[in-house]
Amino acid sequence: MALLKLARMGHPALSGPAQPVFDPLTPEIQRLIEDMKETLADSGGVGLAAPQVHVPLRLILFMVPAGRCEEGSPDAIRGGIGVTALINPQIDIVDATPQVEVEGCLSLPGFAGKVPRAQTIRYRGVGADGQPVDVTASGFHARVIQHEVDHLDGILYPMRMSDLTTFGYVEELKKRNQDA
Ligand code: NI
Repeated sequence: MALLKLARMGHPALSGPAQPVFDPLTPEIQRLIEDMKETLADSGGVGLAAPQVHVPLRLILFMVPAGRCEEGSPDAIRGGIGVTALINPQIDIVDATPQVEVEGCLSLPGFAGKVPRAQTIRYRGVGADGQPVDVTASGFHARVIQHEVDHLDGILYPMRMSDLTTFGYVEELKKRNQDA
């Protein structure tokens, strides 16, 4: 296993679009998933897309911490979702009602901003085991998937923001919240 170098906003690796994964079960893809898992764990993030580690493929990792699940939801009952790979993901919007929450990104270290995302989505793709995935997700779970899939098309969260006054350094935004 290996820690992979993260591309930061402005690097052409992030400008997409990424290409579909032909066969998730090849040793190369399985190795990439393991290395991305190690990189994600090391970074303390909740999601990572292959273009962020300079690999132009449609492959993401995500997790949903227990504390970010909607109360009483199936995700909460399961105790959150551990780090999961999703290959060749496709999203259909189920409920487009915009939910505005703070996001960060490993490609914009130290920054955060409020991003509107669809409340509920259905996503399909293939898991690390090559089996089809078909999930309907809301809230944080839907948000992290939308954020990571955007990376596959060269979209970073500031490009989705509707109010750039909420964009800034995490340290400064924390001070602002303390003042409020
Ligand atoms: Ni990101």
